[in-house]
Amino acid sequence: MSTRRKLVAGNWKMHGSRPANAELLATVLAARPFTADVAVCVPFVFLHETASTLAASDIRWGAQDVSAQAQGAFTGEISAGMLAECGCRYALVGHSERRALHGESDQLVADKAQAALGRGVTPIVCVGETLAERDAGQTEAVVKRQLSAVIHHLGHCAAEMVVAYEPVWAIGTGRTATPEQAQAVHALLRLQQQAATGHGALMRILYGGSVKPDNAAQLFAQPDIDGGLIGGASLKAADFIAICRAAG
Ligand code: 13P
Repeated sequence: MSTRRKLVAGNWKMHGSRPANAELLATVLAARPFTADVAVCVPFVFLHETASTLAASDIRWGAQDVSAQAQGAFTGEISAGMLAECGCRYALVGHSERRALHGESDQLVADKAQAALGRGVTPIVCVGETLAERDAGQTEAVVKRQLSAVIHHLGHCAAEMVVAYEPVWAIGTGRTATPEQAQAVHALLRLQQQAATGHGALMRILYGGSVKPDNAAQLFAQPDIDGGLIGGASLKAADFIAICRAAG
């Protein structure tokens, strides 16, 4: 029996507005209780208001990125300390959109994960292969390389991160990894963490990529899938609630 609690985290990406967020969060709040842990990762500018809305509940909030730097002349960056001040429980780190569109390297992702953990913010470290990499048989090598950069940087603290396996070809495409495909990658990531830290059994590994109400339960039933990182469906209250319920 797994002792890992399932976690469903919404990644709003660059979506939302104050009225839309208020309506979405009110509907999600009204649907409690959930058995799984539930969180929303919102654009930085909405963190304060999200914190006030959710403060009295068991729903957590987080950011979608964090600076690797503690403070200084880094225009436009947001530090882990600032996220901690906003009450963030989580910060996404190394999402494939940031790796691809903002040139984030494995090393930078590792630095960001460390910066977050150092301020008590749990990094949700995203890994995943592109379609070309999968077709070339490189899935295992790619995700192991991405995870090992973080594990080696964090040392024993690596046990505290959350990992999200998000195959790039499944993000926003409506093309989900099959439960078997996802499970196979999750199992090897867990083994890798176990070999490196001895804490593989405790680490939560989320699946992300076109998770919807009609495929969530099957994905979450896999032994090494500990919940989901939800993009598009997290913006629709009914879908997000259904996915949270599918987790437990
Ligand atoms: P979709 O659920 O929209 O495919 O996005 C997944 C994702 O990137 C979550 O971080």
